Order: sequence, then structure tokens, then C-alpha cells
Amino acid sequence: MTVFDTTLRDGEQTPGISFTFAQKLEIARQLASIGVHAIEAGFPASSQGEQETVKAIADQKLDAVICGLARSRTEDVDVCIDCDVDMVHVFIPTSEVQRVHTIKKTPEEVLDITREIVSYVRDHCELCMFSAMDATRTDTEYLIKVFRAAADAGATIINVPDTVGVYTPTAMKNLITRIVSEVNCPVDVHCHNDFGLAVANTTTAVEAGASQVQVTVNGLGERAGNADISQTVMILESIYGVKTGIKTASLYETSRLISRYSGIGVLPIQPVVGDNAFSHESGIHSHGVIACAATFEPGIMTPEMVGHRRRLTLGKHVGRHAVRQMLTDAHINPSEIEIDRIVEKVKFMSVKGKKVTDADLYEIATTIMGIGNGGRAIELQDIAIMTGNHVIPTASVKALVNGKELVCSSTGNGPVDAALKAILGIVPAKVQLKEFNIEAISGGSDAIGHVNIAIEDDHGHVFSASGSGDDIVLASTEAMVNAINLLQRIRQAETK
Ligand code: KIV
Ligand code: ZN
Repeated sequence: MTVFDTTLRDGEQTPGISFTFAQKLEIARQLASIGVHAIEAGFPASSQGEQETVKAIADQKLDAVICGLARSRTEDVDVCIDCDVDMVHVFIPTSEVQRVHTIKKTPEEVLDITREIVSYVRDHCELCMFSAMDATRTDTEYLIKVFRAAADAGATIINVPDTVGVYTPTAMKNLITRIVSEVNCPVDVHCHNDFGLAVANTTTAVEAGASQVQVTVNGLGERAGNADISQTVMILESIYGVKTGIKTASLYETSRLISRYSGIGVLPIQPVVGDNAFSHESGIHSHGVIACAATFEPGIMTPEMVGHRRRLTLGKHVGRHAVRQMLTDAHINPSEIEIDRIVEKVKFMSVKGKKVTDADLYEIATTIMGIGNGGRAIELQDIAIMTGNHVIPTASVKALVNGKELVCSSTGNGPVDAALKAILGIVPAKVQLKEFNIEAISGGSDAIGHVNIAIEDDHGHVFSASGSGDDIVLASTEAMVNAINLLQRIRQAETK
């Protein structure tokens, strides 16, 4: 069972997405490092830039098969060969609707082109994938003829695309079963998500005998996208017990990398890699999970398996057990009466619409318990930001860190990035930003911005905090300083 990733080709066809050259190289390296068997690096004939990118990816000599896409034209194949790819992926529409309205060829002409183009590829390249585009809307008898023609001409793998995402798992099972038994060639499947069935259709194809799945990170792709790599791989590994060769513990970080580069966020409720995938807020669930994680999680898929983390979150459904656990982790031990008051306050703030962060919880607890908050390890004194259309955003900060004055400057992608990097430059602990969300509380350009962040230390502990104000850079720095102070306070408590 192998995984073919098309984030750089079909994924980049997502409306509005355009990865830079450097991002594409990095994405290819990441995909190879997590064990993706084949990477579709692009469609070289589409532009000079695409050609250069595919060639540069092939030149990295990664531990993965590098594939280039080509229409069923020799010129397209030649460009792929010039890029030194390991595999050429040729496609031709086979359904009547696409054949008649796009390439305007008869069924016999499509069969001839299939034979010619596959043998042309094989004369120049070791590996040839052949796709019958819109296979799932193609007459099945004719589709089998096309696939046989491709296999006889030397295709090393045939791909069954559900191009417009109209198939169901039952139909997919029947089709793949027939193709596997009637065509002598390994079968791959490429499913679109128009009805939300891409992952189900892909995993069902494996049940029916497909030996390769096409996926994209975060399910990017044309229209509603393709089958998501994390979901597909985890279903195969954890539910079906099929080995995919993917280092599943890197799925979360891969998802976040692509989210950052594509500008398309991951929904909190997205399976496997969404923020809430292993988060628990309600009292009953948190209580159960504290006793045994498998009570309210799949158990056969843990956060560790996918590089995620389990979190108890604070909200209006929070219960005493979760709050006590979170405070005990921070070496704060309230009495039963105090815990009731802390929970009541957290619920009250949540009902009023405030997102209660870890920093808020410790503030509430220490105030109610009258123990003081342990002081602030970092006190920001000055911050200066320079930004504009012709300058690299730069921030300089001056802060008292454990009573000592420190300064640091940093550049960034924008003023917020520069400011947060400058603060991280003076922090004694090794931390990285895990989450950053900003929302405008009121409308208009003078709106109050509310920033929620989460940082992670080198032990994997996550601390959330917030900041707000009419200047989003200052609100962001306030949130970061609050999070770092929280981390320092908890570390001090641990060493006492
Ligand atoms: O969806 C599709 O049919 C494709 C082909 C190029 C395989 O992306
Ligand atoms: Zn596609």
C-alpha cells in the first residue's frame, strides 16, 4: 500500500492558492521526510515557472518518486522528461461528457491516443501512471477497455479518478473490484470531495484492492478538494490495520506547514489534525479522559500517534475535575470550596462570551486563593516597530527579564511576526508559537483587536494567553508576554 501526494499539483489548483518556489521545495522535502511514496510535483507544461520548480524538486534527489503531470500529448511528456522526473502521469478524459465537450474525440480515438501516449512515455521514462479522467462517469465496459489498452502499452500503474466527486463507497467498491480482477496492472485511486465522500471512497477502494491512494495535505484541491492525507492514512492504519509507510507522528506538523503556506486554515473540528480533535471541555468528557483517555477518544488513534496533543479546555461546560487537573499540573492546589468558586468564575466569563485562557485560569485561581500570582518574570518596557511597503518589518523590544534589562531586535514577515520574534529573542526558555488568532471585537478601522495565542515549551507543555487593544501589534505582544510569564511561573512552582 503506497501513498501518492498531489498537494503540489491538484492541491495547488485550489482556487486562490499559489505556493512560492521555495515553499514548494520545502513542501516536497516535508512530504518525502514523512514517508510519502510518490510526490506529484506539478504540471510542467503549464508554465516555464512550473517547469523550473518541478525540475528543482527532482534535482533534490529526495527519497520519494517524483512525478510530473502531462496531458496525453508528446510535447507535455517531453517537458516532464526534461525535468528529470521519475514518473510521468498522463491523463485523458474518458467520460462522454468530457470527451465530447473538451477534447472532442471519439471513444476509438481515445483508445488509440491512450496506447500511443503510454508507450511514448515508457520509451522515455521508467514509470508511467495513466489516468482515465472522469473514470467514475465513464461507461464501465469502455473504461475497462481503456485501462487494458494502457496496461498493455506499458503503464506501470493505472489511476481511477472520481474527478467530480460523485461516487459512493459502494459504487467504488464494485468498480475497483472489477478493475483489479480484469486489468493486469496495479490500481491507484484519486477522489474529489464534492459530496464529502473523498476519504470514504479512497479507503473503500483500498478494501477492494487498490494498492495506491492519492491524497493532499488538508484535503486541498480543485473545488471541494481531494482526500485528506491525515484522515486517509489514519483510517487505513488504525481502523483497517493497513501499513502506509507514513510517519504518522508528523501528520499534525505537516498539516500546519501547508496551512501556513496555503493561507487556508484548518477547521478546529477537522478530524485528526483540527485543534479540537483531542480537546475536551465538558465535565463528563474531561473527567472520563483524566481517568482513561480512551473513554472519550478513539483509543486506536491517540494524539501522540499523529503528533497532536490532548487538551482540557476552559469554557461554559467545564467541570471541577478538569479545572483541578489543570491547576494541579501548575502546582496550584485549591480547596474544595475554592475550586467551586474558580469553576463558577470560569463558567461566568465563558457565558459572557470570553475565551478563557490558561493565563486567565491561573489569574482567577491565585486571586481567589489569595496566594498572589508569583510576580511577572518579564515586564515589557519599550517596543518600537518599523514597517512599510519598502522596508522589512523590524521590531525592537526592551524588557526587564527577571529584573535584568534586555533588548532584542528582529525582522519578520509583518510587524506582528517581527514583534513576537523579538520577544522570543529575550525569553530565557525555549518556546515556539503554536497558535495565533486575532479577532476584531467591534467593526471599523478603530476596532479593538483581541489576540489569543498558545506557546509550547521544549517539554511539549502548551500555555494559552490573550491580549487586547486598539493596536494589534501591542495586543499580540501583550498576549505573548502573558503566555511567557505563565510558563515561567509554572516552572518556578515546579522547582519549589
Ligand atoms: O481529478 C482528476 O481527474 C485529476 C486528473 C488529472 C487525474 O486531477
Ligand atoms: Zn483531481
